Amino acid sequence: MKVGDKIKVFAPATVANVACGFDVLGFAIDKPGDELVMEITAEKGVVIVDIEGDGGVLPRDAKKNSATVAIQDYLDFINADFGCKIWLKKMMPSGSGLGSSAASAVAGVYAINMLCNEKLSKQELMPFLLNAEKAACDAAIADNVAASLFGGFILVRSYEPLDILQIPVPEDLWCAVINPHVIVLTKDAREILPKEIPLAHSLRQSANVGGMMVGLLRGDYDLIGRSLVDYIAEPYRSKLIPGFYEMKNAAKAAGALGGSISGSGPSVFALCHGKEIAHKAGEAMKQVMTDMNIGADVYVSKVNNQGPKVLPLSE
Ligand code: HSE
Repeated sequence: MKVGDKIKVFAPATVANVACGFDVLGFAIDKPGDELVMEITAEKGVVIVDIEGDGGVLPRDAKKNSATVAIQDYLDFINADFGCKIWLKKMMPSGSGLGSSAASAVAGVYAINMLCNEKLSKQELMPFLLNAEKAACDAAIADNVAASLFGGFILVRSYEPLDILQIPVPEDLWCAVINPHVIVLTKDAREILPKEIPLAHSLRQSANVGGMMVGLLRGDYDLIGRSLVDYIAEPYRSKLIPGFYEMKNAAKAAGALGGSISGSGPSVFALCHGKEIAHKAGEAMKQVMTDMNIGADVYVSKVNNQGPKVLPLSE
């Protein structure tokens, strides 16, 4: 690695919680995601040259932006005597529930680690990403960052110590995600939650996480659908999302296995058996938003098993 070395990377958006797995389940999707270009500099520190696609809302101060917080942590950890500058292209809004801050942070540490010849393992990158989430959302939550970094479907089995498990997914599991053009900040969506939950809800929630794991491992689509129930966040956060239950019901009527809020919202996801049903579920949810005069973007993809990737610099 030398001064002037340059790389361009992509890191995927994610669906966190997946209904029953508040703060412990997540998966990556193919689109949208963030692109980041990085160039090594002789001067220490991280400089944000430009951020495109965020409407000017993200911090340009490298101490506050999730991507640069994570990169600086990485550079400090390896005692770097160099720095870098970055160009960030956002392809999803902040406050969308698609793991926007996580995708930026993952793109940042993935880029610097690639330029440093993969000096650290993905597992070793996680602490930098948790710090970045803390800076961006005031909560060091692993579900979005782990799903974007490792790709695939992940379970955060433990936070202390951090234990991330990658769960295989059945071949024909598809996802439709709708991002209504409404902003819900993670911080607000966490504050709305009760501090304690009834024992009966805890039992049902953990039983559904178990059901989801068995469903994914066995390729039992009906069991996956039956397990997509959330007693912890959805009853409270649904109030922040106009037309939430109408969208969820419309997706199910179109054949989806089930769905819920993506991360802290306002995006809503539906898991489906097959591409065709996923497209129908996405269209059905979009129709609900159209009827309510709310703009929305729909993304349909399989679970993204790759995670971040290097792009040609010319792309
Ligand atoms: N699990 C998190 C939440 C996702 O629902 O608040 C946002 O990081």
